[in-house]
Amino acid sequence: MIILGIESSCDETACAIVKDGREVLANVVSSQIKTHEKFGGVVPEVAAREHLNSINMVIKEAYDTANIKPSEIDAFSSTVGPGLVGCLLVGLNSAKTLSLVHNKPFLGVNHLHAHVSANFINSDLKPPFVCLLVSGGHSQIIYVEDYDKQTILASTIDDAVGEVYDKVARLCSISYPGGILLDKMAHEGNKEAFSFPEARVGEDEFSFSGLKTAVLREVKKFTPETLPKADIAASFQYRICDTLIKKTKLFADKLNCKTIALAGGVAANSELRKRLSELKELGYTTQAPELKYCTDNAAMVAACAYFNPIKTENSMMLEVFSRM
Ligand code: KG4
Ligand code: ZN
Repeated sequence: MIILGIESSCDETACAIVKDGREVLANVVSSQIKTHEKFGGVVPEVAAREHLNSINMVIKEAYDTANIKPSEIDAFSSTVGPGLVGCLLVGLNSAKTLSLVHNKPFLGVNHLHAHVSANFINSDLKPPFVCLLVSGGHSQIIYVEDYDKQTILASTIDDAVGEVYDKVARLCSISYPGGILLDKMAHEGNKEAFSFPEARVGEDEFSFSGLKTAVLREVKKFTPETLPKADIAASFQYRICDTLIKKTKLFADKLNCKTIALAGGVAANSELRKRLSELKELGYTTQAPELKYCTDNAAMVAACAYFNPIKTENSMMLEVFSRM
């Protein structure tokens, strides 16, 4: 089954064509980073207009790359939510239109399920597994019991992990997009330079506001010229990744599940991937999406449309939603 997927929930306009949920025939991503850089973050209204400008181009490029005609596509899919409403509308209406024009089914996809599905691309991973999903908008530990049976085991009570990365980056005057640049800078620092606290919260909760405040407190002790950015980045990165991996392992052990996966934009983080990988020595099977499938992309949408589309009587009636 060949599925065309569209992703437009935030600041990436993307189209991909994927065979049987695992084999990528085309993966086109048009990023708006340059547009939003000057604002230091994503401006929803501007993002929606950018999606409109790029959408036809990325769809055409996907067809060209896959060397496939529209008539060879078995279903069209798009992210329905959660995300920025104006942005989601562009992808959803494009995919619905394609499905009407070519008389093929439309499959709606939940953005978070799509991030989890990124793990199926070019891999033979099968449920059950425990998945740590960390993106700019969400932080969850999910039990993926089956492709379409997923239970949230823990989630954040304040900021999402990606959001914390971006905010801490801003505190350290690291430019947008903060997460990836902070990750790079952390490699030049000493992770023991600062001892940041681990939040004391319930077993099924994450909280990062205390960590953010602790970083702010340290930053205030320096001038912009003397700020040891790399040491702060390394110490912060060590603490947050340690918390995430420990908690994920805890739930995997509780469920007696020996397979652990990562998902979401922060799954691209080098320390998080390293810490996950170390669990192999303890007998776990670990899985993380290839870097290009961690941050927002449409291949994960098409994969999710194959394995776990939104169940509904009439998918053409699906409407965008901003939150879970
Ligand atoms: O999944 P994603 O592309 O978009 C959302 O659905 O939110 O995630 C974007 C988030 C941003 O907060 C970005 O800073 C973070 O992922 N991110 C990273 C890295 N690459 C992207 N955070 C830490 N380290 C990275 N290497
Ligand atoms: Zn995302």
